[in-house]
Amino acid sequence: MTRTTFDHVAAAYDAARPDYPGPLFDAIESALGQPLLRAEVADVGAGTGIASRALAGRGAQVVAVDPGPGVLSLLRSRSTSRIRPVVGDGNALPLRSGTFDLVTYAQSWHWTDPASSAPEAARVLHDRGVLAVWWNLLKTDDAPWWRAYVAAAESANSGYDHNEADIDWGAGIDTAGCFAWVRRVEVPWTRTVDVDVLVTDYSSHSYVAGLEEPARAELLELLRSGLAAAFPSGVAVLPYVTRLWVARR
Ligand SMILES: C[S@@+](CC[C@H](N)C(=O)[O-])C[C@H]1O[C@@H](n2cnc3c(N)ncnc32)[C@H](O)[C@@H]1O
Repeated sequence: MTRTTFDHVAAAYDAARPDYPGPLFDAIESALGQPLLRAEVADVGAGTGIASRALAGRGAQVVAVDPGPGVLSLLRSRSTSRIRPVVGDGNALPLRSGTFDLVTYAQSWHWTDPASSAPEAARVLHDRGVLAVWWNLLKTDDAPWWRAYVAAAESANSGYDHNEADIDWGAGIDTAGCFAWVRRVEVPWTRTVDVDVLVTDYSSHSYVAGLEEPARAELLELLRSGLAAAFPSGVAVLPYVTRLWVARR
């Protein structure tokens, strides 16, 4: 998979996708061997800036790279001066060599071709720089509302295969051979979220956003009714794991 933009779902994405847990950034700082305070970071596939803002919140100076001018315009409207948006592609970064302490990909590495994006990340990092890529994974495979939703999503969109959620996309970093030290870390956490927000979250996933109406609305309604039955209070409490791959040059 190489390069797609989330411009058409930017508002829903920014309003409803979850943040990342604090221990994720602790693990990144541990791999870096220094705090994020004043670190120079390239956050690639930055989208509307959910990860960029978390990194800047820890004091990093962030260049936020994304191919989508629409998501970057939302990012710009919500950012401090510590975040500088740049239109660009992770497969050919518009950034100077040997510049960054850290290159991050928050839920975006799988949109690149590791044969290009791994050497590009290594190129823009300085000698002891770190690449960190991660994904939020919902771990609720046995729940009936989830199984019904996945089955309906696969039948509505022939290009969607839920088994792809099990692919460990970060494993390709090791085989690319650009990094001397590569580790995987898993951070479990619990998300407490309004059912309506969760439905908006799923409306921003590419396999849902790509559906024609009325299939898209029907799929989201099936999700909403399944969630309403499972969580009558209107608040869902869900187990997540954030899977992080860190690699040092
Ligand atoms: C799931 S969003 C993640 C956004 C953000 N990192 C976050 O934490 O919310 C994936 C992002 O990857 C971007 N993207 C797609 N192809 C890309 C590529 N080849 N290089 C860099 N970013 C890409 C999309 O435009 C989108 O904003």
